[in-house]
Amino acid sequence: MLSQQDLKQQAAEAALAYLEPLLSAEAVIGVGTGSTADLFIDGLARYRSLFRAAVASSERSARRLSALGILVLDLNDVQTMPVYVDGADEINAQRQMLKGGGGALTREKIVASVAKKFVCIADESKLVQILGNFALPVEVLPLAREAVAREIRALGGKPVLRVGFTTDNGNQILDVHGLSITEPLALERSLNQVPGVVTNGLFACRPADVALLATQKGIRTL
Ligand code: 5RP
Repeated sequence: MLSQQDLKQQAAEAALAYLEPLLSAEAVIGVGTGSTADLFIDGLARYRSLFRAAVASSERSARRLSALGILVLDLNDVQTMPVYVDGADEINAQRQMLKGGGGALTREKIVASVAKKFVCIADESKLVQILGNFALPVEVLPLAREAVAREIRALGGKPVLRVGFTTDNGNQILDVHGLSITEPLALERSLNQVPGVVTNGLFACRPADVALLATQKGIRTL
């Protein structure tokens, strides 16, 4: 029986195999954040001489990449990337995701938007029928926290401030409990309309293009 850690490792290796044919001397790779992304970063070091650089979705991933000798570029200096590889807290059969457990959702969404393909890597426990069992992270400007929380309550959610946590962008996170997200696209868009919301953790408008889910029987590709 493979442990969850083994499964994450398997997903990371599958992403590296997916990536290998896309590598070139000019290629810049988009890199996500989290424990599965960390394993991907560690493996990416083996391919260091086969691509130019990476763009990271968090300071944490940038530090890990740099420590392994991989050049990290500012997104402003990059026009395109063949792929962005990242984990998820939940993913459904349509490859729509709920992300942001690590608090890096804003940069994740931005870096992913510049990549041609979003490759989601996860163990199969992340595959769900309906998103929302995992609390939905919403990054807010600190001054708007209470105003946004009232709007979220009106939408039926229970926002809880992530205490002692500041995002890489200097903002706060509200983790929204109690949502059964049957219409991820509509909820992603309506949360984006609330003044003070920087980003919400629904990745439905731009779902993953490929999901590599590690199971006890091998990789399942969605
Ligand atoms: C971070 C994220 C991560 O992708 C998500 O939390 C999954 O993390 P892990 O691979 O550790 O389970 O969205 O903001």
